[in-house]
Amino acid sequence: MEDIISLCKRRGFIYQGSDVYGGLSGTWDYGPLGVALKRNIMNLWWQHFVDSRDDMYGVDAAILMNQKVWQASGHVDTFVDPLCEDTVNKRRYRTDHILKDNGVDPDGMTMQQMDEAIAEHGIKSPDGNPLSKSRTFNMMFKTHIGATESEDSVSYLRPETAQGIFTNFKNVVDSFYPDLPFGIAQQGKAFRNEIAPRDFVFRSREFEQMEIEYFVNPDKWQEAFDELLKSTHEFLGKLGLSQEHIHELDVPAEDRAHYSKKTIDIEYDYPIGKEELMGIAYRTDFDLGNIQRASGKSMEYTVKGTNTKFVPHVIEPSFGVERALMAVLSEAYTEDEVDGQKRVYLRLPEHLAPVKFAVSPLLKNKPELVEKAREIYRSLKQKHGRVMWDDNGNIGKRYRRQDEIGTPHCVVIDFQTLEDGTVTVRERDTTEQRRVEVEEL
Ligand code: GAP
Repeated sequence: MEDIISLCKRRGFIYQGSDVYGGLSGTWDYGPLGVALKRNIMNLWWQHFVDSRDDMYGVDAAILMNQKVWQASGHVDTFVDPLCEDTVNKRRYRTDHILKDNGVDPDGMTMQQMDEAIAEHGIKSPDGNPLSKSRTFNMMFKTHIGATESEDSVSYLRPETAQGIFTNFKNVVDSFYPDLPFGIAQQGKAFRNEIAPRDFVFRSREFEQMEIEYFVNPDKWQEAFDELLKSTHEFLGKLGLSQEHIHELDVPAEDRAHYSKKTIDIEYDYPIGKEELMGIAYRTDFDLGNIQRASGKSMEYTVKGTNTKFVPHVIEPSFGVERALMAVLSEAYTEDEVDGQKRVYLRLPEHLAPVKFAVSPLLKNKPELVEKAREIYRSLKQKHGRVMWDDNGNIGKRYRRQDEIGTPHCVVIDFQTLEDGTVTVRERDTTEQRRVEVEEL
């Protein structure tokens, strides 16, 4: 993990947020290559789950929402983590993390049981001090809308994109009147005041989600669940993740979110261990039912041509972009040996690579080579966009630099190019070089 983090920082993928002021814990900034990789992942998701299907509708809802949304959804009351405190230095910890770090599995435990386990095992804080009893801590960032701060002006930064979908269910039905089943998809920022952000971007306070709420006839939830799970595996394949690193966890009832009747988490073998990449939950009519009660507006769907009405049930595939990106980087990070020297390269699938082609003149002090190389660079850039000009250092160094950021093809223009219109293409994974006609590129 340390190697990946260092590569990300050095090569302009991901920096610590507010780095210049000493950082802000749990926040990350994407550099030029990181933003390109992240967009490629998000665009691939949108293409896979929305554009290529007839039954999906995209939305982009506001991040700030009426506080009633979070009251009705249960987040104000139940979106909490157990928090305990070092009684001497007042540092705060997630109780379940403290247990895990001390070899006790907290899954399925109530807060009281966690406190009992701490007492029973004599667990102390990481600084060796006694720990307080746990209390709940709400993870939503609270803010106020407008110039006066009162109970009425309270709002929250959204902790999930899902609610922006549910609150638009009726709007989409009224505008498009889709047949059931159909889904509404959204990508966007989510915010959680994590007590202990950790493991690079894996647990951040500001992150990005890609979510679908898929509305179904209650009798048909299982087949929709299975279809979306299958489609999720196909998407993970498109990310280049190998099946052997992917695991399904059927989450037991006591560990499921308050709204879920069934959840399958997809876990990935990260360098930090096997951890959740995304989850698919059967949310029943929990959310639309709550909105209906709290707003007084009907969330019923009328089956076309009939008088049959019901509140649809929901299957929710929920992805975290950062966790997908961290899996992609973990899968791609490779070390090998070339010409007796250690080489680091990112074996990214070509469609995800931030840079697809790097174009270089063999020698940068030969104007005729530079001119030809610029011409080829411009035409490739017009066609593929993700093309980088690289004339720094010798060719060997350029290859290594491009390997490290996962560029699949390096194109070199030399004197032979001027004679016969061919270039050298050097492949990242095999380091093989071959002569190719410029048109073939
Ligand atoms: N709408 C359902 C929902 O938000 P969740 O399991 O709380 O469910 C969904 O979150 C996904 O969002 C997770 O599987 C993970 O990929 C991502 N995620 C959650 N918290 C995160 C955090 N603090 N940092 C990065 N990603 C996070």
